[in-house]
Amino acid sequence: MNTGFLNLPLNQIFLGDCLKLLKQLPDECVNLVVSSPPYNLGKEYEAKKALEKYLEEQTVIIKECSRVLKKTGSIFWQVGAFSNQGSLIPLDIRFFPILESCGLIPRNRIIWIRQHGLHAQNKFSCRHETILWFTKSNEYVFNLDPIRVPQKYQNKKHYKGNKKGELSCNPKGKNPGDIWLFRNVKHNHEEQTIHPCQFPEDLVARIILATTQTNDIVFDPYMGSGTVGVVSKNYERNFIGAEIEEKYYHIALRRLEEKPDKNNNFPNLKSLRNYVEKTGENIEKYRFDMQTGNKATERKKAKIFPEEYHKQELENRLIYEESAFSADLRGEDRPIDINLNGRSNKKKVNSDQPSNVDFKQLEIEL
Ligand SMILES: C[S@@+](CC[C@H](N)C(=O)[O-])C[C@H]1O[C@@H](n2cnc3c(N)ncnc32)[C@H](O)[C@@H]1O
Repeated sequence: MNTGFLNLPLNQIFLGDCLKLLKQLPDECVNLVVSSPPYNLGKEYEAKKALEKYLEEQTVIIKECSRVLKKTGSIFWQVGAFSNQGSLIPLDIRFFPILESCGLIPRNRIIWIRQHGLHAQNKFSCRHETILWFTKSNEYVFNLDPIRVPQKYQNKKHYKGNKKGELSCNPKGKNPGDIWLFRNVKHNHEEQTIHPCQFPEDLVARIILATTQTNDIVFDPYMGSGTVGVVSKNYERNFIGAEIEEKYYHIALRRLEEKPDKNNNFPNLKSLRNYVEKTGENIEKYRFDMQTGNKATERKKAKIFPEEYHKQELENRLIYEESAFSADLRGEDRPIDINLNGRSNKKKVNSDQPSNVDFKQLEIEL
């Protein structure tokens, strides 16, 4: 048994290679591993060889993560696709057998949908990434209540039988399912730091709340801007992690610090807003790293939408796109998109429109 640290480096980020940190951790000391590994594959290799070498290196890390995981623990590994001269390999397909080879048990393959992204020319544009969830044993933690989402038909009742008149669905909400739509942390997202590929905090919160209890230990070998640390702290979990790049390590520390740096700067708009809300100070005194305008906007003036909003928006959009495609195939007029050019265009909807679009649904106030 590897005894490693006498005391675990709780609520700290190790600046350096995660393998070095892992080698010092004892067996079965963390409750959850949640991470998104780097996959900017080495340029010094020919791409295919680079992929195989990368997967070999990742196998070593995953074996170590599995070793440090408690018997009741879970691992969530988030990956996208590897693209090489027009070919595309979904990386979860390659990671799945690696996780299985460590004796881990698959629980879910979660699809994380993105509404926006690059438009491909020679294949369908990529609009999802995946999160593989594996557990170490059959005795694992899964807390459904803290992560329930609203039922679609909240007040539906049994209409016959001995439960007649009673609610037919759980009033606390439903299981969120394995298709997630947290908005990507880009551009004007309030969590955006200088890091190019951050986890949205709510996505990490869903994982942490579902698979750990208060004071448990969450491990992220690739901390990046420190999202896993920030969310663990918010929900009274402990964290341990590593980050090899000094500039991201400092961003993570500043996010965890929750205070302005010596230049009155914050790593992102969210930390700035949290600070001025807590202290009552004037927002104009401070800036954040990604700020372009003169003054940061206060949260009460900002539109922040929950995951359900984005799901509804995507559903409406997909229904619209498929109806437009069906209309094209049938030589009919396309239905009019009520959000044409990003503006609500409800008045223009023609109720005689020959299409499959449920306009009532499209008109849900977004
Ligand atoms: C995909 S990003 C993770 C982003 C993170 N989930 C967040 O929310 O900010 C992967 C990170 O792993 C770091 N990294 C790459 N190789 C590493 C290694 N051997 N040890 C520790 N960190 C490493 C990279 O610098 C990068 O910040």
